[in-house]
Amino acid sequence: MVVGIPKETFPDEQRVALIPDVVPALIKLGCEVIFEPGAGTAAGFLDEAYVAKQAKAVSDRKELFAQADIIAQVRTLGSNPDNGKSDLDLTKKGQVVLGFAEPLSAFDEIKAQADKGITLLSMELMPRITRAQSMDVLSSMATVAGYQAVLMAATRLPRFFPMFMTAAGTVSPAKVFVIGAGVAGLQAISTAKRLGAIVNGYDIRPAVKEQVESLGAKFVEMELDTAEAEDSGGYAKAMDEEFYKKQRELMTKVVADSDVVIATAAIPGRKSPLLVTEDAVKAMAPGSVIVDLAAERGGNCAVTKADEEIKVHDVTILGPTNLPSTIPYHASQMYSKNVLTYLRHLIKDGEIQFEMEDEITVDTVVTKDGEVVQARVRELMGLTAKTEDK
Ligand code: NAI
Repeated sequence: MVVGIPKETFPDEQRVALIPDVVPALIKLGCEVIFEPGAGTAAGFLDEAYVAKQAKAVSDRKELFAQADIIAQVRTLGSNPDNGKSDLDLTKKGQVVLGFAEPLSAFDEIKAQADKGITLLSMELMPRITRAQSMDVLSSMATVAGYQAVLMAATRLPRFFPMFMTAAGTVSPAKVFVIGAGVAGLQAISTAKRLGAIVNGYDIRPAVKEQVESLGAKFVEMELDTAEAEDSGGYAKAMDEEFYKKQRELMTKVVADSDVVIATAAIPGRKSPLLVTEDAVKAMAPGSVIVDLAAERGGNCAVTKADEEIKVHDVTILGPTNLPSTIPYHASQMYSKNVLTYLRHLIKDGEIQFEMEDEITVDTVVTKDGEVVQARVRELMGLTAKTEDK
């Protein structure tokens, strides 16, 4: 099996799917590893480092796609719809392409890849089960985003995060409110704590209270009925508008009392809940900062603009949608480790094998043999269930 590492082509994307350090493990699996020159440069992994680990440079992207059986990407066509189009002509029938694929929304791209006969593997559909934790790119990238969101807020805030007792007087610590305490939120809480802030956290899943408190933050109690807020998979459920209306009202005071709000609330496969109104923003002190990590799916704050930094009522609001790419070295290292573990799961005796009764495989294989095969994606695309799903 030849594993190919192309350069990422999404604007400002600095990550690379496989770093030199994982090459020996892939060779041990029976693979040959090739890379497009410059593939890892933006993340700090030079061509020489790949060569030193026995990966081979090919002349260009065309050659890479011609030689590789498996293309390992951060962003496949679905999550790179403009610049990824030209790759479609380079791919060949039966070629395996893996990476972020936006399978729950980029239906035209998914269909195009199925029509081309590509076997598309979506890293974001990795099941959230213990066995797959080391392959879970969503958790890895959420860790990077939660950390970086706090640092971004700290550099915009016209105040210190920690308390200082100096000859020039005592400085009170910043107050940080983290909304949504999943992977990104919990990392934001730890990062803000490490910087010395007073941290409050909130999540509608009651089970999270203990995790928030174990990081030294205070869990904000709200008079909301959250008994039914968690589904059997451990995710937040979408609540009705009445619930969100009440939540917005209850949160306004906590938001107004905070110097920084890090918003991470999300419902898998849905638009993010609107939790911070413009009135709540208006009630914050001048100079306060909101980092809205939910910006890509509409935002938790009413005035967020995706990928922009704006000022509304003297509050700075950031809506970054690709924070993992801003810490490309470690984001690539974590992503690579996830991909390597996944490939170890799929490759047996030097050949990639799709055991379609295995939960990890069945959940992540989106297209195969000219068809969309992933049950949830088929349903969302309005395709009839495959016979074996019936
Ligand atoms: P996510 O990115 O989908 O959502 C972020 C957070 O927003 C969640 O904690 C959610 O409860 C919260 N949220 C949703 N609506 C909210 C609202 N109205 N107000 C406040 N908070 C709200 O979540 P993430 O971080 O991807 O994962 C969450 C779940 O997945 C957890 O149960 C976690 O333990 C589980 N998980 C399991 C893994 C595994 O076993 N392999 C790996 C990673 C996460």
